[in-house]
Amino acid sequence: MSSICKRGGSTRPQQKRSMADRKDRKSFGLLYGASPAMESLYRQIARVARTEAAVLLVGESGTGKDLIARTIHEQSKRAEAHFVAINSGAIAPHLIEAALFGHEKGSFTGAMRQQLGYFEHASGGTLFLDEITEMPADMQVRLLRVLESGRFSRVGGDREVGVDVRVIAATNRDLETAVRERNLRADLMYRLAVFPIGVPPLRERSGDVELLARHFLAMLNAASGQSKVFSRHALELIRSYSWPGNVRELKNVVQRAYILCPQTLVLEETMPHHALRKPAAREGHLNFCIGMPLADAQRQAILATLKHYQGNKRLTAEALGVSLKTLYNRLKEY
Ligand SMILES: Nc1ncnc2c1ncn2[C@@H]1O[C@H](COP(=O)(O)OP(=O)(O)OP(=O)(O)O)[C@@H](O)[C@H]1O
Ligand SMILES: [Mg+2]
Repeated sequence: MSSICKRGGSTRPQQKRSMADRKDRKSFGLLYGASPAMESLYRQIARVARTEAAVLLVGESGTGKDLIARTIHEQSKRAEAHFVAINSGAIAPHLIEAALFGHEKGSFTGAMRQQLGYFEHASGGTLFLDEITEMPADMQVRLLRVLESGRFSRVGGDREVGVDVRVIAATNRDLETAVRERNLRADLMYRLAVFPIGVPPLRERSGDVELLARHFLAMLNAASGQSKVFSRHALELIRSYSWPGNVRELKNVVQRAYILCPQTLVLEETMPHHALRKPAAREGHLNFCIGMPLADAQRQAILATLKHYQGNKRLTAEALGVSLKTLYNRLKEY
């Protein structure tokens, strides 16, 4: 539902800047990737982290929005304070107000004592509002008011409290559609999207799939003290699949293969089935694998042509450029 964490920001601002300006990096903050798409993302993160601007992360599920939010926090001057993450879709609508703003003792049945909300927990730090489109509409109105005024009162309280939080929000929905379908209020969207960041899907990060797969394998090896490797075929599969579930899907596939394979990781059992299927032959075409025995290729060509000519051997022999006798001999063999 939510998480609160605090990290020591050991990197000094000057070091952070030079890290952000480096061209040849394979990672930035908590993120791995060296593609031009990620390079551009790193530049945006580095720029916005130095500011207090609200950030809206928009990208498909599993693209790393959570890690990006944490990286922005860690690179900001708020790094020493809390990073509080809330998944708006995971909190029951009637509890969300008290969860965000806290409540005073006796404000409702069961409120035995005063309780601080996520806004106050995140004081001085960063509040990450994940799946913002899942927040009930009336709470979106309240949230906007708080962001505009910098003040709120706890549920059941009559005193206003000042807030000092940096807000980062995220959604995996298309913004225009979310606004049109009333899942996100337009006024709140404009307030959150002072600095919008579009997070690229994994299929648009050339070269990063293999880099990430090797990174996840290295992490698993380091954690277990082993030295497993990918098979060549596994790497080919990793490169050729489109990864609709993005980095999360890739990470899960590598983790499952790591558990299943003793030394060399093959992915036949862990990849989604459609990823392993050979591309279907186009109508009127045959698919031959490189290195396939010639006799097999010949057999497939003869039988498919015979089928095409509906069993007419003369037309088949003519089409294949062999004598009728040769065709008969081959068919007898088959
Ligand atoms: N660039 C990256 N480098 C390393 N790990 C990554 C990267 N991007 C994502 N991951 C890992 O992939 C998984 C999914 O990432 P994350 O939870 O940040 O995605 P998300 O965009 O927030 O997804 P959702 O929309 O479903 O909440 C996590 O385990 C995360 O650590
Ligand atoms: Mg997320």
